[in-house]
Amino acid sequence: MKGIILAGGSGTRLSPSTISVNKHLLAVYDKPMIYYPLSVLMLAQIEDILIISTPEDVNRFESLLGNGESLGISITYQSQEDPDGIPEALVIGEDFIGDDDVTLILGDNIFYGQGFTTLLRKAIQQHEHATVFGYRVKDPERFGVVEFDERKKVVSLEEKPDDPKSDFAVTGLYIYDHHAVDIAKHLSPSERGELEITDLNKEYLEKQQLDVQLLGRGFAWMDAGTHDSLFEASEFVKNIQQRQGFKLACIEEIAYYMGHIDKQELMQIGHFMAKTDYGQYLIDIANRRHIEQYWEEFDSHPMLEVTKP
Ligand code: DAU
Repeated sequence: MKGIILAGGSGTRLSPSTISVNKHLLAVYDKPMIYYPLSVLMLAQIEDILIISTPEDVNRFESLLGNGESLGISITYQSQEDPDGIPEALVIGEDFIGDDDVTLILGDNIFYGQGFTTLLRKAIQQHEHATVFGYRVKDPERFGVVEFDERKKVVSLEEKPDDPKSDFAVTGLYIYDHHAVDIAKHLSPSERGELEITDLNKEYLEKQQLDVQLLGRGFAWMDAGTHDSLFEASEFVKNIQQRQGFKLACIEEIAYYMGHIDKQELMQIGHFMAKTDYGQYLIDIANRRHIEQYWEEFDSHPMLEVTKP
């Protein structure tokens, strides 16, 4: 399974903050936005990741995350000339995907909830053609919307409908087989001039190859694409972190508990940012008793749901 994070676009809804900074590099509380989708792919055990951004911004992501070695994964980069639509990520990533399946995540999507890692890993293991995730929202007209019949069978998908047929938004996390690349290549732009990911999903739906998994009320899903939603996401992250003492989307912590990096490497990264709470958090983890004892105590990491190797 390959992973793609789409982190381009113009970010106009966050102007002026995004005039000279890519949206996905803005902080969601204490870490760059891109850490959140990256943590989702890492938790899904995807170790080969492509980040797509604008030609001006690709280098900035590379200076933040490098080739992924410090996280024990591989990260490569490609650029999208113009923000012509989400499905273009699959066309740009054609060679990277090859004959593999691919999980595509939008760079401004944040997922959190007990059981999310388990659900995602299961979805990846069991998935056949295309899997997307539905989430109930108050403002479905802002999203792709999925309609179900009384037997919970999917009957329609619509992109930003004026009159939504349900309250279920399709989140920005998509699992596809490699045929998605060919489907993306043959899509035509919508009325707003973009290739729509909903049109691609509709093709799978027409072939009865689309699985829609619902994220229940115990999950939080946010996209941080406007000033209000970015602020709300930051507040959410701050509240959870301060209450529980665990960090969300701490990619170095995930890399450590998944066995991609060792104690020394974690300590080194922590020392590099030792003046921040983030750095201290990493140092604290590295200073904890032997990892075996940690497993014994919790059986699995309480936040990461990583079970004993
Ligand atoms: O967040 C989920 C929603 O994302 C889905 O429900 C919709 O079906 C889907 O179309 C998308 O809607 P948005 O209006 O949120 O898409 P937006 O144009 O804001 O782009 C989402 C992210 O993808 C954003 O972080 C920028 C990036 N992007 C977008 C486009 C169109 C690119 O990098 N390149 C692009 O060409």
